[in-house]
Amino acid sequence: MEGLARRRFLMFLASSPLLGCTAAGRLLAEESLDAIRLPEYLIKSPAEALDVFDFHTAAKRTLPPAHYGYLATGTDGNETLSANRRAFEDIYLRPMRMVDTSDVSLETTLLDERLESPIVLAPVGSQRAFHADAELASARAARAQEHLQILSNVTSNPIEDVIAARGKPVWFQLYPTSQWATAQMMLERAERAGARVVVLTVDLNSGSNRVLLGQYVRTDDRDCSSCHGAGGVEDFLRMTPMYEGSSVTFADFDTSDMTWDYLDRIRRATSMKIVVKGVVTREDAASAVDAGADVVYVSNHGGRAEASGWGALESLPEVVEAVDGSVPVMIDSGFRRGTDIFKALAMGADAVCIGRAYIWGLAAFGQPGVEKVLEMLKAELSMVMGQMGARSIAEIGPQHIGIRR
Ligand SMILES: Cc1cc2nc3c(=O)[nH]c(=O)nc-3n(C[C@H](O)[C@H](O)[C@H](O)COP(=O)(O)O)c2cc1C
Repeated sequence: MEGLARRRFLMFLASSPLLGCTAAGRLLAEESLDAIRLPEYLIKSPAEALDVFDFHTAAKRTLPPAHYGYLATGTDGNETLSANRRAFEDIYLRPMRMVDTSDVSLETTLLDERLESPIVLAPVGSQRAFHADAELASARAARAQEHLQILSNVTSNPIEDVIAARGKPVWFQLYPTSQWATAQMMLERAERAGARVVVLTVDLNSGSNRVLLGQYVRTDDRDCSSCHGAGGVEDFLRMTPMYEGSSVTFADFDTSDMTWDYLDRIRRATSMKIVVKGVVTREDAASAVDAGADVVYVSNHGGRAEASGWGALESLPEVVEAVDGSVPVMIDSGFRRGTDIFKALAMGADAVCIGRAYIWGLAAFGQPGVEKVLEMLKAELSMVMGQMGARSIAEIGPQHIGIRR
């Protein structure tokens, strides 16, 4: 009983602006440290979520081991995966007080497209592995929450259906193969469907060593042939809508001979604008701009490409410097909170993509889960903008951050 009364008192204080400067406030802070050590809490509905990590816990409980492994995996010992999150800790925020932030706007523009927020859904392939409604659920959530969506060419749903579900064109992401005919077929189809932008992913040309995925797969003894086909990856790919009708083979995914000329080839084949996804160095940023990229997209594939041990946020400054305002810069890999997004914007990114965070929502609850993730990230970004004294995306700048030495 006494515990209950104290708890009520603390809850009262928690809703008071005085919290933080009272003895009870300190007590509460200690309690919240205890909370960090609480066992994982399983939310039963999207409304219960306090941050996107609540969806991670729920997704992990829901998914079969191999599918969870596909979602979670990094490469080798997950060095880059860890570095992506660690990088945010090296940047702190510099709040500016007493600015009228009663009206904070997240609106921005990207490639002449007006966006309600700079938060974009990154291309994530094979979403049927996470929920029966797959990319259609993500598209409906993107529509409801007004976000740009990038669709993987390994989509489980046809691009035409996804665009109908979003009610607007998506950006189309392309994995190159060594057979140009396959790329050409997809580019033509995407453009016919209404896509105006192609996102060329360039960070898997030499493969990737996904150890964690392998570890999860060997704990999963289900018979997967009804979804994956009996003939391995080739069968699986030919069963996906964008590869249908192609004669793609596993060997075609060896694109280790690809160079910047590939952009020229794309440009001759399509009028879509070209985004290069997977750039992390100043050298490649400069080459991408020289080769005519319309956007440079900083990404290490969420730690799924190479074990560089280098966080995406750490590579952002040199890319921004090399691009020098000539084209927009986007970024992903490790973004989980509004503060993460704010830091990248302050460092010069024009838009931030999220991958696993929305897929956790999809896996746990389908469309409502994705919607809640997007809603929370917007609310968090809006709050941190208020705290930093930035009323618009354009007002966010280097003055709002510092680097921990
Ligand atoms: C399960 C999964 C599938 C992915 N599929 C693709 C894909 O088909 N094409 C692509 O360019 N990137 C793909 N990515 C990478 C994402 O676009 C993005 O770079 C990454 O998820 C960002 O990191 P984050 O998950 O930490 O937010 C995938 C990522 C995950 C987790």
